[in-house]
Amino acid sequence: WPFHAPLVHEINRLKRERNAVILAHNYQTPEIFHGVADIVGDSLALAARATETDADVIVLAGVHFMAETAKLLNPAKTVLIPDTGAGCSLAESITAADVRLLRERYPGVPVVAYVNTSADVKAEVDICCTSGNAVEVVESLGAPRVIMLPDEYLAKYVATQTSVEIIAWKGHCEVHERFTGDEIREFRGRFDELIVIAHPECPPDVLEAADFVGSTARMVDFVADRRPPRVLMVTECSMSDNVAAASPETEFVRPCNLCPHMKKITLANILDSLRTLEPQVTIAPEVADRARRSVERMLAVKP
Ligand code: 13P
Ligand code: SF4
Repeated sequence: WPFHAPLVHEINRLKRERNAVILAHNYQTPEIFHGVADIVGDSLALAARATETDADVIVLAGVHFMAETAKLLNPAKTVLIPDTGAGCSLAESITAADVRLLRERYPGVPVVAYVNTSADVKAEVDICCTSGNAVEVVESLGAPRVIMLPDEYLAKYVATQTSVEIIAWKGHCEVHERFTGDEIREFRGRFDELIVIAHPECPPDVLEAADFVGSTARMVDFVADRRPPRVLMVTECSMSDNVAAASPETEFVRPCNLCPHMKKITLANILDSLRTLEPQVTIAPEVADRARRSVERMLAVKP
């Protein structure tokens, strides 16, 4: 931390000078999450809170689709993503042309897109969802069958929670797909009284082996409310680091899978982006108008 202090100080000074806010995802490293972020949360909270800020500049400490969502909801503001290479294997698994083909194949079936998609894809679908509201969004459509893309495992998990028939795409999160049910059982064998909480992007055998399944924000709430003596968060590495600071009585068992995209954001490039007001997120207006509708419909169902 002393090593980070000059950067933290300068970022916080520039934020005031630029009338900027920093929105940080739960997977950001502690020096960003605790040191410079104004708003932290899961992708649903970041989208919802992006609509409430009166800042002129939003710095999105997270991945590109999150910055695009913030820009969709704030077309007049400057939205910065400190590294444009901060992508997402789910967002890269599907294109707008793929969605058009799915619509031809399943005429009349509504399409739900996880927010982990590009603005181009959001523009082609009926509504967005996140892992924090996917079941409510699917059920809000009142349809017997729904296409859910691009995360196969999230779609399969939602199918276990609703009577709506779910047609899934085969995208995967490169971080969560690496966990296995055997790994979870091995941790249970090594640690007594272990509570396992998993993100729904994990494969089905991992979710079956878990005690609780939820978005990153629901995982944070689970630990805050239940205060388990020992917990294993089956998700990206930084989650446990960030939550541990607020939960000294809980021991965190840490299987570590890093998201290389989230880790592209650093204090140094946040500072650069505030100094230069670059790189800015831009979305073509004809795409943005349609993509914004999909995000706004989601927020109307469950913000
Ligand atoms: P949350 O919406 O749960 O924060 O998840 C976002 C994400 O990218 C998980 O890998
Ligand atoms: Fe995408 Fe997975 Fe990284 Fe989340 S953890 S940003 S879903 S690659």
